[in-house]
Amino acid sequence: MDEDRVIFLDTTLRDGEQAAGAGMSGEEKLEIARQLERLGIDIIEAGFPASSQGDFEAVQTIAREIRKPTICALAHANPNAIDRAWEAIKDARQPRIHVFLSTSDIHIMHQLRRGKEEVMDQAVENVRRAKGYTDDVEFSPMDATRTEPGFLYAMLAAVIEAGATTINIPDTVGYAIPEEFGKLIAGIRENVKGADKVRISVHCHDDLGMAVANSLAAVKNGARQVEGCINGIGERAGNAALEEVIMGLETRRDFMGVSTNIDTKQIYRSSRMVSDITGFPVQPNKAVVGANAFRHASGIHQDGVIKERSTYEIMDPQEIGLPSNMLVLGKLSGRAGLRSRLEELGYQLSTEQLAQVFERFKGLADKKREVTDRDLDLLMREEYRAIKEAEPYKLEHIQFISSSTDIPTATIRIIDPSGRTISEAATGNGPVDAVYNVINRVVGVPNQLLDYQVQAVSGGMDAVAEVTVRIESNGVVSVGRGSDTDTLSASAKAYMNALNRLIAMGGGQPATTVATP
Ligand code: KIV
Ligand code: ZN
Repeated sequence: MDEDRVIFLDTTLRDGEQAAGAGMSGEEKLEIARQLERLGIDIIEAGFPASSQGDFEAVQTIAREIRKPTICALAHANPNAIDRAWEAIKDARQPRIHVFLSTSDIHIMHQLRRGKEEVMDQAVENVRRAKGYTDDVEFSPMDATRTEPGFLYAMLAAVIEAGATTINIPDTVGYAIPEEFGKLIAGIRENVKGADKVRISVHCHDDLGMAVANSLAAVKNGARQVEGCINGIGERAGNAALEEVIMGLETRRDFMGVSTNIDTKQIYRSSRMVSDITGFPVQPNKAVVGANAFRHASGIHQDGVIKERSTYEIMDPQEIGLPSNMLVLGKLSGRAGLRSRLEELGYQLSTEQLAQVFERFKGLADKKREVTDRDLDLLMREEYRAIKEAEPYKLEHIQFISSSTDIPTATIRIIDPSGRTISEAATGNGPVDAVYNVINRVVGVPNQLLDYQVQAVSGGMDAVAEVTVRIESNGVVSVGRGSDTDTLSASAKAYMNALNRLIAMGGGQPATTVATP
């Protein structure tokens, strides 16, 4: 093991997906996995195969397609879950099984309801079972930070003896304080027999807002694997935000003294993709990837940055791959210019795709004088949605009437799944309500609107508006996005996108699942 290198296990597709309302389709998980590979993530925790058939299939697809990182599947410490995990990842180039079992008194007494010895035997037997399938076995004593240290040490020594190669210390309920958590890791290294032969990992939750700080304290004390999620999504308050841990290690290499395998230039794109797919917007003041993270409002700061960037910026925005807000293309730009700029942003397009994107670009350039990198990024995400997603209903045209005296009215033309063109009109309490009423009238899928958000991309009066909507039908949550220089058009596109996705997910049929950790 390279003592000075920290590796990352990304669990966006597993713990991240456990965030309330963050359901992702198999295709979307694969898309994120591809991006995590580009980012240089060492291990992708692709899912929890025993939890549902859908999760099993998503893990299997990722294991078969993604070749560079290790592909990990989570399993309860029970034989069926482990067999199922192996079945899902056995075609991976480097498969890992991650076995977990609670070790704190609170969990053992109230949840597992059995003796500590029995719990220890269960952990050992199941680590052995996993080891029968693959050499690469991770074990997590769930709720480690509230586990009595003597029992924790004994448990870890026993699973190492049984073959675990990574021992992961989860702060399952986000209870630890950095100094204390660092000491816990140091204590494990000192007191657990065999700890020097395995990799020590940490998995921190953010209930007290300390997941990233705890992860860094653990690294300082010898942990060499950090687990977390892009944008810090995850169960309850989420997991450690990996982009923050990565930039903490990179920016303060002088203090932390470790390196990583990460291509930091892929951070921004990873963050956007996860936000786009889950429908969880990134808060503007979010560290590293928030819209304001590199914006200077104070005159003194602006003056400093103009004279010398490092006066008020500790990271170079280019280091995280942040698209610049400079004018890049305009109305007169041609295909070659568009292709070359998109390639610089990391998008490779076939000639056909380029033709399609060029049409959209021309439409945008007609409405907006300056097309920035951020606009192009948004345009590509729209394009990605159009290519990847089945669109049973296609929105052809939309028109609004709204003034201080008229009743807001929306008129639309939609092509239905049989290819028929339908025109309809409806009124509403406001313009957005009118848009949603008229779409509902045509599509006829009953649903509840859970959330509606508008964000302006790239600033200025002609900024592109990006709308995110979250809808629910029969327990199935669907997220839709749409962007346009006109907010109402963006709202219509977002709602249509959410409905199409809901229909693709089975129109709200309840899924059969097993409880997640
Ligand atoms: O938070 C937790 O304890 C987990 C384990 C399954 C590692 O997610
Ligand atoms: Zn967790």
